[in-house]
Amino acid sequence: MADFLSVTDLSKDEILEVWGMAERLKKNPYNTLLKNKNILLLFEKPSTRTRVSFEAGINQMGGYPIYMDASTSQLSRGESIEDTGHTLDRYVDMVIARVYRHEDLVKLAMSMEKPVVNALSDLEHPCQILADYFTIKEKLGKVEGVNVVFVGDGRNNVATSLILGGAILGANVTVASPKEYSPRPAIIEMANEIRNNSVRVVEDPIEAVKDADVIYTDVFVSMGDEKEKEARLKAFLPKYQVNAKLLSKAPEDVLFMHCLPAHYEEEVTKDVIYGKNSVVFDQAENRLHVQKALLLKLFSITM
Ligand code: CP
Ligand code: NVA
Repeated sequence: MADFLSVTDLSKDEILEVWGMAERLKKNPYNTLLKNKNILLLFEKPSTRTRVSFEAGINQMGGYPIYMDASTSQLSRGESIEDTGHTLDRYVDMVIARVYRHEDLVKLAMSMEKPVVNALSDLEHPCQILADYFTIKEKLGKVEGVNVVFVGDGRNNVATSLILGGAILGANVTVASPKEYSPRPAIIEMANEIRNNSVRVVEDPIEAVKDADVIYTDVFVSMGDEKEKEARLKAFLPKYQVNAKLLSKAPEDVLFMHCLPAHYEEEVTKDVIYGKNSVVFDQAENRLHVQKALLLKLFSITM
């Protein structure tokens, strides 16, 4: 059965199919389509949205979520990812994993027949981005041709999935970041292979937001990057903070998005998160609906 480790694991048509189911699930949240399915959430890092939206979503469809904190599993005492994967394969129907190293996710997926879903790694956050483009479609009526401007750490997991997702779905993604935090060349290349000129990289956030339909930001210090906190804040502040001043350079009806959690006075100010352009909590809600649809898709269940 298929894994979902990268947003590129689904084609545009498959994403549209998932969104169609998500729309229906948003109207009718409860069913028994996951009856008798045991789904393990294996997390190495903290989580609020991802954990709860998956657990609640699985419950709403009659399935059974099992949460395992990696630090209290035998992984923390040195059991290999491979032995863990071979074992879990005998117990559960799917593993949803949040890991530090993307390569560990790949190892887990390779040691299991059952599907593995990326609930965030250092490389990508595909569940987030699948839901975020759904939110853009809901708010603006389309994704194709929409100007999405990511301001901040252009090489983090959220930015990477946003770039690749935009390439698949037809959005024009601009990344505004300091040179040393601009997207990895391999990601730009991958995006351009999917769709030519799908991503633009600039240094000046003011220039970037001028004709933005969406401004997106994420933390400057991702989980796992804490050692670099001081250097990162120095590189990003004050230029890359999304605040009222930067928003005033964008079209008045621009959407503001953030995957959350937000770090106030770093990448964003509180007035922007709670301001009229912000859709951050609708974004968070849509994680629930879109991930439920994703699970059905990965189990080849139609509705
Ligand atoms: N956006 C997101 O993935 O949030 P959590 O870390 O709370 O799951
Ligand atoms: N880039 C952030 C996303 C958190 C949901 C991190 O990895 O910490």
